[in-house]
Amino acid sequence: MMLKPEFVFATCRAGSEASLKREVASRHGALLTPAFMRPQLITWKLRGEIRDDFVPETAFAAVSGFSIGMARSAADVVNLVKDGMADVHVYPRIVPEDGVPEDAWGRVDSVRAEISTALPLVRNSAFILDVILGEEGEPWFVGCHRRSASAHPCPGALPRLRLPEDAPSRAWLKMEQALAWLQLDGPGVLAGRTALELGSAPGGASWSLLQRGMRVMGVDTGIMDPRVAAHPSFRHLALPAGDVSFRDLPREVDLLASDMNLHPGLVVRYAERFVRQLNPRWMILTLKMNDAQVEPMIPALLQQIRRFAPGEVSARQLHANRREITVVAR
Ligand SMILES: C[S@@+](CC[C@H](N)C(=O)[O-])C[C@H]1O[C@@H](n2cnc3c(N)ncnc32)[C@H](O)[C@@H]1O
Repeated sequence: MMLKPEFVFATCRAGSEASLKREVASRHGALLTPAFMRPQLITWKLRGEIRDDFVPETAFAAVSGFSIGMARSAADVVNLVKDGMADVHVYPRIVPEDGVPEDAWGRVDSVRAEISTALPLVRNSAFILDVILGEEGEPWFVGCHRRSASAHPCPGALPRLRLPEDAPSRAWLKMEQALAWLQLDGPGVLAGRTALELGSAPGGASWSLLQRGMRVMGVDTGIMDPRVAAHPSFRHLALPAGDVSFRDLPREVDLLASDMNLHPGLVVRYAERFVRQLNPRWMILTLKMNDAQVEPMIPALLQQIRRFAPGEVSARQLHANRREITVVAR
């Protein structure tokens, strides 16, 4: 990259700015000094030279990359961006936890169209341009991030989804956002496959998987939403995860999910037991960050998960997550 990075940026879920700053300070404090902070967007000044494939190790960042500058028009963006970019991602800075209101996408789409007309793309570039829109009148924040397997495929790590009013629970949106991250959200991709969810009540996540044509087994002593319970492809095991006998489970499980509100150390132990027995292809775990003591444990938890996970492990706080992060393996 021709551009010499001086600042790193990261976006995050509403309310997680302090957790993101703490995480970056603990992992990269010697290299990155906080520069500015707006709701859901933080920058850090680099204290030395870094390689252009540097990605901060943080679970609380939705998107992270290098800052380029501020712009008020597509012409400003073209003046700032000296290097070719493979794509242009435009997204709002403010993302409510239940999803961006429908009418906010009009502005995003028109800014993207303006920039795409003015800026020729270089398909084999390693970088994607990020243009982050704040309040009306606020200049656009311009940065870029490296294309990589662990980067989120959607602009802003934000699939265009909103929590439906009749969803059995908020976990519907969490599951849909996790599937989009894993690129399992295409039509028919999950149809006919089997999921096991530990901590399934009342059933928003199961509802998402059932709507996608999966067979779902839910493990929870809690009561399932009647629509989920009555679905012909759903089976409920009304037991705590520790009491499940493997004889009760399907022989083949493609997706192991867990959303149990237990200490993350315990969730990881359960996940290991189920993965070793069932050998699923994908895993989606939410790890609850209910107190400040748990956050510093994230790197050790991920290391532990990598020892048994069915594939590459990544962690990220999704916009619909509350005090929790999502860990996936694919
Ligand atoms: C956040 S809720 C799950 C929401 C759910 N995934 C949905 O889609 O609606 C957490 C659930 O974990 C369950 N849970 C806690 N400990 C558990 C255990 N040992 N075994 C199974 N479920 C457990 C609770 O009963 C609770 O229903």
